[in-house]
Amino acid sequence: MPLPKSIDETQKLLATGEYVAERSLATSLFLALAMKRPLFLEGEAGVGKTEIAKVIAQGLGRELIRLQCYEGLDIAQAAYEWNYSRQMIEIRMAEAEGVKSREGLAQDIFSERFLVRRPLLRALQPSQPAGDPPVLLIDELDRADEPFEAYLLEVLSDWQVTIPELGTLKAAEPPVVVITSNRTREIHDAVKRRCFYHWVDYPDAQRELEILRRKAPRAAEALSREVVAFVQRLRKTELFKLPGVAETIDWTNCLVALDKVALDPETVNNTLGVLLKYRDDLDRIAGDEAARLTGEAKTAAAA
Ligand SMILES: Nc1ncnc2c1ncn2[C@@H]1O[C@H](COP(=O)(O)OP(=O)(O)OP(=O)(O)O)[C@@H](O)[C@H]1O
Ligand SMILES: [Mg+2]
Repeated sequence: MPLPKSIDETQKLLATGEYVAERSLATSLFLALAMKRPLFLEGEAGVGKTEIAKVIAQGLGRELIRLQCYEGLDIAQAAYEWNYSRQMIEIRMAEAEGVKSREGLAQDIFSERFLVRRPLLRALQPSQPAGDPPVLLIDELDRADEPFEAYLLEVLSDWQVTIPELGTLKAAEPPVVVITSNRTREIHDAVKRRCFYHWVDYPDAQRELEILRRKAPRAAEALSREVVAFVQRLRKTELFKLPGVAETIDWTNCLVALDKVALDPETVNNTLGVLLKYRDDLDRIAGDEAARLTGEAKTAAAA
């Protein structure tokens, strides 16, 4: 599939994947694709960062290669490592066959045959080199340690991985790269500078309703309106962790499963755990506050 040629086309690409994007996101994505630069997405949990990469891959008909970051992620897990056990077997077999040339053996066991390709290397050298380059999702980069970021910087600027025993492996064509961060810490400026940056915010009421139409289509329109009005109000309260879009979708589907076509204070109270995942937040909202917000949301949705 060719890359979108305009911001409108980019917005359509996202819409075919049931992703409701604001214009500014479509613009950042369009530019990132056109200029072959990574797209850096930051935002709170559950606002649809990871989903963007999935939708791009699906919409462009490209393979999605995902690198999930975590504390202690290293090059062996992210880029490549040598398959030690297969190398050992090869050495044993060479011994058994009476191979004498150490030089030749070393060359043999450090060849691509014994290389284990991890996501970064797979993204640079895809299994079907003739096809379009894959989409590389580097998810939750803020969880990885800073040395890994430095390594990544090298990969993203030169589109290559250097393996001491083997040489430098360079991408024929750079992959489409999407990096996400939940901002548990700041990502280094040097990484950000190479990317197009977009802050993924909570959607406004209109966009959130549109998301529900696509992601919770079985919900009655009136119910979806009330849900959106409720969640939008909840996000204005002082909470430890605000509900994301993921929670709005979950909650709506739960209400549908309970055969609800409208909100009522009792149901809201009983299902609040779908929206709020911290005890302090639940204590704060359950009861009077939930009843008040429900009333407000119903009035707003009816207007
Ligand atoms: N704009 C949107 N249009 C359609 N669906 C959306 C949108 N935003 C979020 N969603 C849905 O919300 C859910 C959560 O999205 P996603 O997992 O991408 O969030 P995230 O930002 O990566 O969260 P986390 O930081 O927790 O990983 C998904 O099911 C996704 O389909
Ligand atoms: Mg995510």
